[in-house]
Amino acid sequence: MQDFIITGGNRLSGEITLQGSKNSTLPIMAGAFLVNGKCTLLNCPKLTDVYSASRILNCLGSICRLKNNCAEIDSTAVSDSVIPENLMREMRSSIMFMGAILGRMGECTVSIPGGCELGPRPIDMHLTALSKMGAEITDRHGKIFCKIPDGRARGARISLSFPSVGATENIILCAVLADGETVINNAAREPEICDLCGFLRSCGAKIKGDGESRIIIEGVRELHSCEYTVMPDRIAGATYLSMTAATGGEIILKNACIAETEPFISVLEQTGCRIYSADNRIYIRRIGRLKSVKDRIRTMPHPGFPTDAQAVLMAALVTADGTSVFEENIFDCRYRHTDALIKMGADIQVMGKAAVIRGVPRLHGAEIEATDLRGGAAMAVAALAAEGITKLSCISHIDRGYENFEKIISAVGGKIRRE
Ligand code: EPU
Repeated sequence: MQDFIITGGNRLSGEITLQGSKNSTLPIMAGAFLVNGKCTLLNCPKLTDVYSASRILNCLGSICRLKNNCAEIDSTAVSDSVIPENLMREMRSSIMFMGAILGRMGECTVSIPGGCELGPRPIDMHLTALSKMGAEITDRHGKIFCKIPDGRARGARISLSFPSVGATENIILCAVLADGETVINNAAREPEICDLCGFLRSCGAKIKGDGESRIIIEGVRELHSCEYTVMPDRIAGATYLSMTAATGGEIILKNACIAETEPFISVLEQTGCRIYSADNRIYIRRIGRLKSVKDRIRTMPHPGFPTDAQAVLMAALVTADGTSVFEENIFDCRYRHTDALIKMGADIQVMGKAAVIRGVPRLHGAEIEATDLRGGAAMAVAALAAEGITKLSCISHIDRGYENFEKIISAVGGKIRRE
């Protein structure tokens, strides 16, 4: 088990080149399982979740090689449709492979990924949709067996009760090789969905409407090889912007996706930070003390304020002048970072979906534990702004989503080391 030792109080200044998006890379790697040939993915982040996805692919008979920020995946000779339980447990997003395996092999066996990180994360919408596409699904003691009797999924009209990102991705992955047309109503509109569809189209898939709430997929017989560059990680971007807002200083984010980060930036601007963006770069400078955000910050599906950026922005707002209020509408249990922030001196009151943040002049270092990926990143944001030294443990959560976290922060003047 490793820790971060963070000495707070240093302003950040310099340039940060953003990593590729974790939440695009994982479904795209699942998508590469559908391809009868070799896919080269560029701008892949080096993350433990990506290594887990690679192990899943290799176990299914694909050949996945990761080198620097490139993944080469050859799924010409796939052989297996079962993801072993130990691999399912490594990463919650392993469930993303279900649609792809089913689409290619006509059957798959997975298990419910365990643990409670953000509260209950059911997969009912995934299962209902896949059964509409012809899968017969049985759940025996947490093992899920799916089989399409005639081997090929069929197109279907599916209306989601909530625009679930994972369910939308699983349906798309199953639909690209299905017989006929699939229509998804109330589909998720997240940029990572568009990235997945962009990749699949490069391989010959016929998909329209991604980025809107109705997506139409016309099944094709086969997908072909391609080279594809994964989009930048808008949540890592939001994290480094929050860090600069919390600590002061000025940063240029390079390789950023501006339009996709806009729902976050428009809220961050209300804190008084100067933010300019052009040519895939976002510049931020904090002027004076941060101001609180007057309007309630409601997490919503895209293009609303992203739930993944709630914790990191909160970590900046705990020292803002005035009171800010968050409302978490996506996950039931996404305020687990607040105890650590309170231990560092923050004034936070959680009441159901709402968290009320009364800004304090300063935080102090403490011994704290990362509770989940974004919560852990938020603790690092707070620690970099606090007075004194923070020992942040359980940092494997952070390694799931941030490439070279401590190197990037050290390079712009933050004092952080791994022990
Ligand atoms: N939900 C259901 N039933 C389902 C599916 C979802 O009730 O069948 C509920 C969930 O319990 C949750 C809500 O719907 O309350 C939203 O879940 P969604 O399916 O949209 O999220 P996800 O696919 O599990 C992805 C990201 C998350 C991100 C959410 C929302 C990946 C690998 N994960 O999760 O990212 O928070 O979308 O944008 O893409 C992270 O990066 O830290 C992270 C958690």
